Amino acid sequence: MTEVKVLEGKDLTRIERIGAHSHIRGLGLDDALEARKSSQGMVGQQAARRAAGVILQMIKDGKIAGRAVLLAGQPGTGKTAIAMGMAKALGEEAPFAMMAGSEIFSLEMSKTEALTQAFRKAIGVRIKEETEIIEGEVVEIQIDRPATVGAASKTGKLTLKTTDMETVYDLGTKMIEALTKQKVQSGDVVAIDKASGKISKLGRSFARSRDYDAMGPQTKFVQCPDGELQKRKEVVHVVTLHEIDVINSRTQGFLALFAGDTGEIRTEVREQIDTKVAEWREEGKAEIIPGVLFIDEVHMLDIECFSYLNRALENEMAPILVVATNRGITRIRGTNYKSPHGIPIDLLDRLLIITTVPYSEEEIRMILDIRCEEEDVEMSEDARELLTKIGKETSLRYSIHLITAAALACQKRKGKEVEIEDISRVYSLFVDVKRSTQFLMEYQEQFMFNEVPGSDEGQMME
Ligand SMILES: Nc1ncnc2c1ncn2[C@@H]1O[C@H](COP(=O)(O)OP(=O)(O)OP(=O)(O)O)[C@@H](O)[C@H]1O
Ligand SMILES: [Mg+2]
Repeated sequence: MTEVKVLEGKDLTRIERIGAHSHIRGLGLDDALEARKSSQGMVGQQAARRAAGVILQMIKDGKIAGRAVLLAGQPGTGKTAIAMGMAKALGEEAPFAMMAGSEIFSLEMSKTEALTQAFRKAIGVRIKEETEIIEGEVVEIQIDRPATVGAASKTGKLTLKTTDMETVYDLGTKMIEALTKQKVQSGDVVAIDKASGKISKLGRSFARSRDYDAMGPQTKFVQCPDGELQKRKEVVHVVTLHEIDVINSRTQGFLALFAGDTGEIRTEVREQIDTKVAEWREEGKAEIIPGVLFIDEVHMLDIECFSYLNRALENEMAPILVVATNRGITRIRGTNYKSPHGIPIDLLDRLLIITTVPYSEEEIRMILDIRCEEEDVEMSEDARELLTKIGKETSLRYSIHLITAAALACQKRKGKEVEIEDISRVYSLFVDVKRSTQFLMEYQEQFMFNEVPGSDEGQMME
C-alpha cells in the first residue's frame, strides 16, 4: 500500500427518533463539574454523574488513555443514560463507539476481531491537510447540450469572479452533474476543492440580495470573495482508525461503512495504517484523539473477551473504556468461577467503579415529567402523581412505558390530556414484572415447563 486513504465523503445525516434515551443531552454538570439537580435531561444520580464528568474532563484534557470505568447498579438506575450523557458531552471530535456485550456473539467474525474493530472505532485521528480550492461568485454557468441524445457527454463553461478578477473554467460531465444537483446558479458563492472536485455552496452574494423577493428565509448571504480565485486552505478532518481500516481494506471501500458489512480486516492492513498514522504524527500532520468505547451489558462477554480487554487497555492508543452491568456476584461467562459483576478480578482491578443508586420518588417524578415533554404528551397533575406512585412501586422503566400507552388511550377517548382513568386503564392492560410473577405463581401449573417449587433451575429471576 503506497497511500493510505482517509476520506471518501461523509455526508451522512442522522435520523432522530424518540428513543429510550433521546431526552438526554449531556451530563447536566456546571463548570465546577457539580451535577445540577436536573439539567440537560438528567435528573438525580448526582455522585455518578459527577464521577462521569471527571472522567470526561480527563479525556478532554488528553491526560489519560487506556483507562476503564465500570458503571454498576440495579436495573433502571440510569447506567446507559449516563453513558449516553457522556457521549453527548464529549463533543464532536472525540469519537464515541457503543456496543452491547451480546453483539460479540452475533457477528460474522471472531470475538476478538469484533472487539478490535470496536476499539478502533473509538480512536479518532485528526488530520490536517492543505488543499487547493477555487472560491468565487458564480457569474455564469453555460451548459452545452449535445445535439443527439446519449452521444457525446455534456460540456460547459463556468465563469467565477472575486472582487479582483474573473476567470472562465471548462466543465466536464461530473462537474456539471454536481452543479446541477446542488442547484448552483449565478450569484451563488461557491468553493470547489481542486483535488476531489467537491463543490460547496457557501451562500448567495450580497450583491444579489435584492434580486429576488421570493427567496426562502434560510438563504445565507456572504460577501463576494476578494483576491485570487485559487487559494490554499488548511482543512482538518477527524476520522476513526476503523474508518481508515475499512476504506483501505477492501475494494468496495467506504460503501462497506454504510452497509455495516466490513468483515474481518487483515492484520497487515492495520499494521500498515498504524505505521502510516505514526509517520503522520511525527510530521505533525495528524493527532490521535482517544475517544470512548462503551460496552453495555458487559457481563455478556466471556473470559476470552475479558482477557482481550486487559491487553487492549495497555496499548498506547487505547480509548477510554466504559462498561456497564446490573449483575451482582455471578458466573464469569466461559468459566465456572463466580466473580463480582461477572467480571474477572484482574479486569475489575483495572476499573474505576461508579455505582448508581435507585431513584427517590421526587426524582422519578422529574424523569417522568421530562419524558412526557419528550414524547409530547399532555398529562394532568393527578395522572402524573399516580404514575410516579406506580414508578416507585414497580419500576421507572415500566412507568416510562405507560406514558405512550396512556397517551394512546387518551387519544382513543378523544381526551385532551392524559387523566387518571387513562393511566389506570393501561395499568390494567399491561402488567409489570411483579404482577406478572404473581400471576405465574398462581397459575403456573397451566404453563409449560413449570418447575418452580424445590428446583434450582427455572427460577424466575437470576
Ligand atoms: N438520571 C436520569 N435522568 C433522566 N433519565 C433517566 C435517568 N436515569 C435513567 N433515566 C431513564 O430511565 C430509563 C432507564 O434507565 P437506563 O436504561 O439508563 O437504566 P440502566 O441502568 O441502563 O438499566 P439496565 O441495567 O436494565 O440496563 C431510560 O429511559 C433512561 O433514559
Ligand atoms: Mg442499560
